[in-house]
Formats: sequence, structure tokens, C-alpha cells
Amino acid sequence: MNACIRAVVRTAVFMGLEVVGIRKGYQGMLDSDFWDMDARSVGNIIHLGGTILKTARCLEFQTAEGTEKAFKNLKAKGIDGLIAIGGDGTARGAERLSLRFDIPVLCIPGTIDNDLYGSDFTLGFDTATNTVIDAIDKIRDTAASHNRLFFVEVMGRDSGCIALRTGIAGGAEAVLLPERETAIDDLITKLTIDAKNKKTSSIVIVAEGDKNGGAYELAKRVTEKFDFYDVKVSILGHLQRGGSPSSFDRVLAGRLGFAAVKGLIAGNSRQMVGLRGNVIRMTPLEEALNFNAFKLEDDLMEMVSILSI
Ligand code: F6P
Repeated sequence: MNACIRAVVRTAVFMGLEVVGIRKGYQGMLDSDFWDMDARSVGNIIHLGGTILKTARCLEFQTAEGTEKAFKNLKAKGIDGLIAIGGDGTARGAERLSLRFDIPVLCIPGTIDNDLYGSDFTLGFDTATNTVIDAIDKIRDTAASHNRLFFVEVMGRDSGCIALRTGIAGGAEAVLLPERETAIDDLITKLTIDAKNKKTSSIVIVAEGDKNGGAYELAKRVTEKFDFYDVKVSILGHLQRGGSPSSFDRVLAGRLGFAAVKGLIAGNSRQMVGLRGNVIRMTPLEEALNFNAFKLEDDLMEMVSILSI
């Protein structure tokens, strides 16, 4: 997020625009929590995780009165264009505000879940996967030393993108995804074959949205039927949401922020600014918010069980 805020502010300043940062997202719009920003405001933040503008979920903004109050505060501050960085909730809010009050808005997909249509990758996804890989490598050390089976649960809400990518990069024996039902017996068959092939430890990645109910539930049900390994569970949780952004995310943040400012100046509105096939492209919000963002690559799904034999 910070690398993107930096790109938006510096591109806008370079283009001669005034820039106002809105703290705490839509809550800040309701509270008129504005920050007049300049090029120095975003110095020394490109390497920082999180967001210097803070963020917050805001139910009041979802009401008609809340949206109106927010718009009045924007107008009172002289704001005549909005760039919103966030997930689908943020984009839906921006679309509603723009449709009702005709203020130009452009959205930048900022979520570790990579669950938005309109960009092959969302901001923060690559960094989160690198954080998960680092954790898996550490867990593998102890799993191998103790001949253990670890169930590692990762974030992603209803998307399996983090789980699938880290399952491949982490060399997991299996990956459980919300998008693809995995029967416990099929998982046990896989683990049994691995054990027969003289594997002495294993790692199973579980997306938090998996239908089996999460890593603890899964571990309990597997242990009831399969006792070859000493079984452990690791829930990685919010460490996936922080940390210094990867080079891929920093460059993506720069490209999306840069394009969003130029897009507003060019008169675009109600678009998702995204990376598609390594090209920056705009997708109408009505499309980006209503199309199924199924992004699991078939080859990656096929590779998991084959590369872990
Ligand atoms: O959308 C990002 C995300 O980290 C999801 O992966 C996760 O399910 C959720 O947010 C956690 O939300 P909170 O930080 O409110 O617990």
C-alpha cells in the first residue's frame, strides 16, 4: 500500500495536482480526516508494510446517509477525484459514491487475497506469498527433524490463490482450496502413498476458506484415520498481512499508482486499474466487481501432487 500511496502522490505532484490523503479509508471521509500531502510526505516509506494512511472497515459509509455525508466532506475539502486502494469492499464503496454523486473514481486492487477480477495480481499478494514461503521453510526444518506432518493454514478469505502458489513454492504434499473440494480420504490416500514411498515428513497447505473447516478440524479428522505421523498445526494468521513489500509488489504499486493518476487526468472513472498479461489495463468496475475472479492456474493445481511424489 505505502509504495502505491507514494506513486500516487508523487505522480500527482509532478502533474501539478494537489493531493489530499484520506486517513482510515471511508471512516476518514466521514470524519474529514484529511492530510494535505506533498512529495516529502511519502519519503522513506517504499519499504514499509501496512499503510501510513491507516485503514478501517466502515459500516456507516454503506448507508445512503453515510455516503452523502462523505461526499459533502469531500466537496468541502475541494476534492474532485478519488483513487481508492483496497479490496472488493473498497471498490464497491467507490463505485456507489461515484454513481450517486458523479465524482470520478479509479480503484487499485490492494488485498493479499488476489481475489479481484481485473488484475492478474493484487497489491500485497506477492509479498504475502513470500512471507508464507519463509514460514513453510522454517516449518519444514522441524517437520523433517521430527518426522512430522504439518497442516499449515493460510489466509485468502474465499480464494485459494495464496494456498496454491505457496503450496507449489513451498513443495507441499497437498493443498486444500476453497475452489476445489478435497475429500479427507483422498488426502489420506496421498499421504499413505507418500509414506510407502519412504517419505518421513509432510506439509499440507490449507486455505482458510477450505470446505473441510480449517487446519485444526482437518488435522483431527485425518489423525482419526491415519496415525503414521505425529501431526501438528500452524495457523499463519496476520503475519501474512505485514512485512516489507517484495520488489514485485513495489514495482506493481508504482505502475498502478502512476497509471491511476494519469487515468484520472485523462477523464477515466469507475475503473479498476490492473496488470493483465504484464500490461496495465483498466476494467470497468461493474465488470471487475461482478465477474468471478477465479484465478487458479490449472497447471499449478496439477503440479502440486506430481511435484511432491
Ligand atoms: O482480505 C484480507 C484478509 O487478510 C483475509 O485474507 C482474511 O480472511 C481477512 O482479511 C482477515 O480480516 P481481519 O484482519 O479483519 O481479521
